[in-house]
Amino acid sequence: MSATILLTGGAGFIGSHTYVALVNAGYDVVIVDNFSNSDLCVPDQLELITGCPVTAYRADVSDAAAMDRIFATHDFDAVIHFAAKKSVPQSLARPQNFFDSNTTALLTLMRVMERHAVDAIVYSSSATVYGKPEALPIPEHAPLSYTNPYGLSKLIGEQFLNQKARGKPGWAVGILRYFNPAGAHPSGLIGEGPLSDGGNLMPLVAKVAMRQLPCIDIYGHDYGTPDGTGIRDYIHVCDLAEGHVLSLGRLLQRRRSHTVNLGKGQGYSVLDVIKTYEAISGQRIPYRLRPRRAGDVAASFADPSLAEGVLGFRAQRDLAEMCRSSWAWEMERHQGQKRICAVPFKAPAHRSEVQIDQMPLALRTQQIWQVPWHKKSAQGAL
Ligand code: NAD
Ligand code: WQD
Repeated sequence: MSATILLTGGAGFIGSHTYVALVNAGYDVVIVDNFSNSDLCVPDQLELITGCPVTAYRADVSDAAAMDRIFATHDFDAVIHFAAKKSVPQSLARPQNFFDSNTTALLTLMRVMERHAVDAIVYSSSATVYGKPEALPIPEHAPLSYTNPYGLSKLIGEQFLNQKARGKPGWAVGILRYFNPAGAHPSGLIGEGPLSDGGNLMPLVAKVAMRQLPCIDIYGHDYGTPDGTGIRDYIHVCDLAEGHVLSLGRLLQRRRSHTVNLGKGQGYSVLDVIKTYEAISGQRIPYRLRPRRAGDVAASFADPSLAEGVLGFRAQRDLAEMCRSSWAWEMERHQGQKRICAVPFKAPAHRSEVQIDQMPLALRTQQIWQVPWHKKSAQGAL
């Protein structure tokens, strides 16, 4: 019998790609998402990609009663916890919200797991836990710190889980520190969501290529890097998804906790990203040279060797593939939006927990581009 895995935040950018990778690897997967930063059509898209029915619940991870019901319905072997807020600018503006959704929700999830005897978890961490790195490439044993409330919330999450694994033999924890996820599924059916703007480079470059923004601001052109712009370790989201399958396998088969970087170990500059996107999309991408952005570092890239040694993980896809798939996603999304927007739909906004796979496929698809009702009810009922 195959293992059953809960993906919190499974309708989001990284969660949805990981869903596909897990189904391809033979796992049964259940999604819980409050759709605060993802579209309700994502389960439909996942159904199209995998050819299998999707089980997805609309619920908030911090709603212990809803989570208890979901855990009582399915016999989970492990959890992959993606659900979190991720926008650094928003975390600086409203830190309390970040501790509610990233920290309190994780505690709730850990308690629910304990009540239902689920003791394996993969946690979405981030290179942000290295703060301002002292040396490059960054190994996992580099000093940890934070430069904003989002970073602090990720660091606290790691510490909670490490303490749990130490104090409770049997608990197995996989902490994955992502560098800069980019790109989309090659089908163009899933990608980075449109609802909140975290200020990340590639989605903004895509918007300029789509003529939704007039130009991209390059923050800093006087760094000590070859072209003067900032360097980051962009990693294709499909590579990242495969890293989760490997991490989960290690937890389930060997009960071995681990903390690893997921990056390519290779840096690309802001200008590399812009030029590559221009070449792939065939669109001109105008830019303005601006002062450095507060809190940015000149360069950040991973030492990926521990992930290779421990998990056998190696990111394969290059920057051109990240830009190509991102562009395919933008084009598909734009065309899909125009196609679906014609159909009116009134949704049951009073419900806080909806098992999405009980709705007919066509109806589910219609909900999305019509009225963003999930945004409205997310503020109320959840
Ligand atoms: P995302 O916003 O696309 O996905 C997160 C999903 O979680 C969304 O679908 C959102 O609706 C859902 N969600 C948020 N709070 C929830 C809650 N309380 N209950 C239920 N669902 C909730 O983000 P992503 O880029 O896929 O990031 C996934 C994880 O990876 C996050 O934990 C993030 O901190 C981490 N991470 C992301 C990046 C990045 O650059 N994208 C880098 C490092 C780490
Ligand atoms: C990349 C490069 C910018 C936007 C952030 C979070 C981090 C993690 C990943 C979640 C930098 C430059 C950007 C723009 C630009 N997220 N840039 N113009 O800052 O490495 O990391 O996302 O865990 O926590 O801090 O990524 O995509 O914002 O920036 O010139 O409009 O692009 O200065 O050099 P970053 P980013």
